[in-house]
Amino acid sequence: MTMWSGRFSAGMDEALWDLSESFSFDHVLYAHDIAGSTAHVRGLTKAGLLSKEECIQLLAVLDTIKAEFDQGRFVRLPSDEDIHMAIERRATELAGPLGAKIHTARSRNDQVATTLRLFTRDALTQVAHSLLALIDTLIAVGDANPDASLPGYTHLQRAQAVLLTHHLNAHALSLTRDLERLLDARTRTNRSPLGAGALAGTSLPIDPAYTAELLDFDETFINSIDAVSDRDFVAETLFVLSLIGVHLSRMGEELVLWTSAEFNFASLGDAFTTGSSMLPQKKNADVAELARGKSGRLVGNLTGLLVTLKGLPLSYNRDLQEDKEPLFDSLRTVLVVSAALRGAYASMTFHAEVAQRAANDQLLVAIDIAERLVGEGLPFRQAHEQVGHWVGEAVRSGENLASVVLRSGNGSRFEDLFAPGASLANRTSPGSSGPATAKVQADRLGERVTSLRTQLAALTREG
Ligand code: ARG
Repeated sequence: MTMWSGRFSAGMDEALWDLSESFSFDHVLYAHDIAGSTAHVRGLTKAGLLSKEECIQLLAVLDTIKAEFDQGRFVRLPSDEDIHMAIERRATELAGPLGAKIHTARSRNDQVATTLRLFTRDALTQVAHSLLALIDTLIAVGDANPDASLPGYTHLQRAQAVLLTHHLNAHALSLTRDLERLLDARTRTNRSPLGAGALAGTSLPIDPAYTAELLDFDETFINSIDAVSDRDFVAETLFVLSLIGVHLSRMGEELVLWTSAEFNFASLGDAFTTGSSMLPQKKNADVAELARGKSGRLVGNLTGLLVTLKGLPLSYNRDLQEDKEPLFDSLRTVLVVSAALRGAYASMTFHAEVAQRAANDQLLVAIDIAERLVGEGLPFRQAHEQVGHWVGEAVRSGENLASVVLRSGNGSRFEDLFAPGASLANRTSPGSSGPATAKVQADRLGERVTSLRTQLAALTREG
């Protein structure tokens, strides 16, 4: 018997059942659904729709059901269509006729929206914690190799020498923006739809502000139709997770390059690499490839939900049930990838001498010579042209750039620029890569991370 059997004379066809049941995936919402129902029961009591005794009894029943789920003892009946109905069915078994009052002044439409917002709110902070851990690791890897340098690339061509810390901080900064976005998405997630009913509210004297407060929502819905139709918070979350995935993918791609024999800038610990079933010498950075590969499904989940939402008339439509699997999948994916990537970075040995040798490529000094000429009063375009000639000559003849430059008239005044590390040491513009600015940068990044950590800790205390 379904919850709506009053109006129907036949049960649901099995084919429809297979299409519409969602317990198989939405059971993970049980704790948040029970939290929502607990607040709802208190709200009904405040409204005089349940007596004190009834309230106490129903809350005890909800606690029991939560314990059954926590301990893996909850038994799903074949007729339990989704997590909400499974819990209500069980509450009715345990509380007798009183169980039938729990759904007063509520629809599954405001219920599922409430449950999913509570779930997403927690998930956003969980992802934020995992990103914070990854940021800490990136900074720690840099701190362990404070003097290490490597060529910085544009177009994947060697461009200028940079410090390893500078390079890793760039990745860390992209993750700090992701953290900001997670916290920002949380503010719009943290609004209560409970009390909107099926779509238009109710004639019963409920107080949505009261249940919102019980659930630590920042505010209540303004409009009941919007409350049950809105899944922007899921779309936003999927976007933030996709962008995180894109960042993790770029980091993964870089690790693939760095650990190749061609670059050989780094190697990963054995625990974070895999062998080949055929080739005995192989040590593969699968962790980095999967970090790159998983970004595809994250973007796919976002795209899928946007397409699901785009044609929906107001208000609730069953299509909205399609919000959950992509959300769960993207959350799991980002948590798994960020943890694995964090471990990979922590296990990484940076081959400082190899990277340094590459960074000492004399051609990378070309811009420093041009800037010295600018300092002597030559307009930049002329300086560029002059150094370009020297570079052309060196490349054509196969000679060092230093030899070509030093033998040109008065060229010896550039000799100091070819000393290893001179490029970095001479670079002092704010935010640039060099020892002179490294501390300011580390401090600024540190402040940003501390501020995010503090905001996150406050939320975790609240929640
Ligand atoms: N499992 C459903 C969902 O995820 C619950 C809401 C169903 N509401 C309804 N009116 N059929 O959206």
